Amino acid sequence: MKKLIVNGGKKLKGEIAISGSKNVALKVLVAACLTDEEVTIRNVPLIGDVNTMIDLVGWIGGKVKVKGNTITVRVEKIRNTIIPLEIGAKTRASSMFLAPLLCRAKRAKIPNPGGCRIGARPIDRHIEGLRKMGASIVYDSKDGFFHAKTSDLHACTYKFEKNTHTGTETMILASVRAKGKTVIENAALEPEIDDLISFLNSMGGKIRRVGKTIIIEGVEKLHGTSYSIMFDRNETMTFAIASALTGGGLYLSNIDLSKLTSFLDIYRKAGGKWEEENDFIRFYMSSRLLPTDVVTKPHPGFMTDWQGPWALFMTQAEGDSTIHESVYENRFGYVSELRKMGANIDYFDPKIKNADEFYNFNFNPKDNSYHHAIRVHGRTRLHNAVLQISDLRAGATILLAALIAKGQSVLYGVEQLERGYENMEGRLKRVGADIRVKDEN
Ligand code: EPU
Repeated sequence: MKKLIVNGGKKLKGEIAISGSKNVALKVLVAACLTDEEVTIRNVPLIGDVNTMIDLVGWIGGKVKVKGNTITVRVEKIRNTIIPLEIGAKTRASSMFLAPLLCRAKRAKIPNPGGCRIGARPIDRHIEGLRKMGASIVYDSKDGFFHAKTSDLHACTYKFEKNTHTGTETMILASVRAKGKTVIENAALEPEIDDLISFLNSMGGKIRRVGKTIIIEGVEKLHGTSYSIMFDRNETMTFAIASALTGGGLYLSNIDLSKLTSFLDIYRKAGGKWEEENDFIRFYMSSRLLPTDVVTKPHPGFMTDWQGPWALFMTQAEGDSTIHESVYENRFGYVSELRKMGANIDYFDPKIKNADEFYNFNFNPKDNSYHHAIRVHGRTRLHNAVLQISDLRAGATILLAALIAKGQSVLYGVEQLERGYENMEGRLKRVGADIRVKDEN
């Protein structure tokens, strides 16, 4: 078992190049399976979830070559239409193989997908959309697999009742080669989806977005491409907070600030500053850190993935902050760990009138298992602790907490962090963090 040992309190200084987006890389690997020609993907982060998707591309019959951050994929023939449970359960994106498998082999068997345990995370909205396109999909609780087949996927008009990021992407992937014009209404707005659309269009797809509507003119064939994917917005936010909390000395590159406005707006309200210098952006504090009230929302709102690092940031603000999580029912896995370090955080449940509309997850008024909001009482000085990482973004939060805490912290569950951040400890070490990995049997 791997653990991280972090001696907190060091000022960080130096350059950090932000990686390519995890949540684009995973999807373009699926998109690459829609053609029998060679596809080259550049700026791919070398992370656990990408390795899982590479394994799955290989499993269904693809040849994959990895050279630095460039991946070449060729799926000449689909050889396997069953996604194995032990690989599929590692990431939620594995369910998206439904699209290329139904498109090219007319059948697929995929396990109930995995990913971070931050809520129930069903794929009912994806399944409903695919059924509208002519797929027959049955979930068998005896084996835990979705059994899907189709004589041919056809175009349709489909409106998502509730917003879904990967659901929107699954529908795009399924319809890009379907006969006719598909119209997806109430489609999600994340920039990562638009990058997937650009990728597919570079393969010959005919997809355009008009606000929350996405129109796909089906094409018979897609061809190979060479494409560089966008930067990772979550990694950027993580390093921005790391910089602001450790002396403001990190120079971040490979970022497009126009895709970060919902973060910058709230960061500015908290008194956060940033400056651009040549190709670098430096996030820093020059005045008091102010408390904030944040509600996470799908894009263009404040991202759910940012709430953990933001909660940590707010432990250092002067006053009480609130964070209301509306996308997932259970994304506060880091709270118990921050409390071990001395953070003063409590849960509460805001009264919401139209809860079913307000929450992005399938709201069940009878389910009281989780709280939906926290109050962070700042400012608290954090100290070292032995900590357990429960999920990817909780991992980033806890690691940043250890970096600013007094004393030596030990972090378990490092594989969760490695699922989504490339060589985090190596990159932090290079800018002055006192951090080392230890393998423990
Ligand atoms: N939902 C359903 N049924 C569905 C689809 C979604 O109930 O059929 C629920 C989800 O359980 C969740 C909410 O609706 O409560 C929103 O889900 P959505 O489909 O929008 O997101 P996702 O596919 O679970 C993706 C990213 C997440 C990111 C969110 C929001 C990938 C692989 N995952 O998740 O990323 O937080 O969109 O942008 O793209 C991460 O990177 O750490 C991560 C969790």
